[in-house]
Amino acid sequence: MRLAPSILTADFTRLGEQIAAACDAGIDWIHLDVMDGRFVPNISFGPLVVRSLRPLADRYGAILDTHLMIVEPERYLADFAAAGADLITIHAEATPHVHRAIQMIHDLGKKAGVAINPATPLSMVEEVIDQVELILVMTVNPGFGGQAFIPTVLPKVQRLATLVGERPVEIMVDGGINAATIASCAAAGATVAVVGSAVFGSQPIPTAIATLRAALAEAHQPG
Ligand code: DX5
Ligand code: ZN
Repeated sequence: MRLAPSILTADFTRLGEQIAAACDAGIDWIHLDVMDGRFVPNISFGPLVVRSLRPLADRYGAILDTHLMIVEPERYLADFAAAGADLITIHAEATPHVHRAIQMIHDLGKKAGVAINPATPLSMVEEVIDQVELILVMTVNPGFGGQAFIPTVLPKVQRLATLVGERPVEIMVDGGINAATIASCAAAGATVAVVGSAVFGSQPIPTAIATLRAALAEAHQPG
């Protein structure tokens, strides 16, 4: 399972340094949470931060994975593409035109993802499963880092993994992932775990990443 650190809980006065520490520990996806104060009750950052991280991502060969928690994301797809996002994920609840938004992302030369909130059924993404590179299942209600994992979402992740089957579609979980919850997500079939406060928290970043990897490895031990 791949780890995608979310910078939402990073120290923004030392952002480059903290991301570099994660990349030095082997991280190759950087998760960027964009919030508009309308789709979610919080405001974070926009294309400017994506643009300023692009050179750092290039230095490490890392992917800028942009999670747009904004209404009518079509309005900003070109801006995030121009800023250097590699993958742009929109929310299925945020636009009546999910298929069109995915097409727009692809036309901009980027990989496309679609996300669903904890209460949103899988049927919201079933019809676009062959059009996307990633499906994100929220394991908290989006808006803030550091919230508690919602375990009742796991059966949905499992059903999604069955539906995806052999297709080349990443299954991402996001919210409340830590050493206690990560293995259950991997067991349910998630292929990428977003980790915010579990990486940019009180522990040194390399230690935090090693702890998450150890939790995954331990879960794979027989008996
Ligand atoms: C929630 C964001 C998440 C979140 C992850 O709205 O999409 O990426 O910040 O942070 P933790 O891991 O602290 O829940
Ligand atoms: Zn996110």
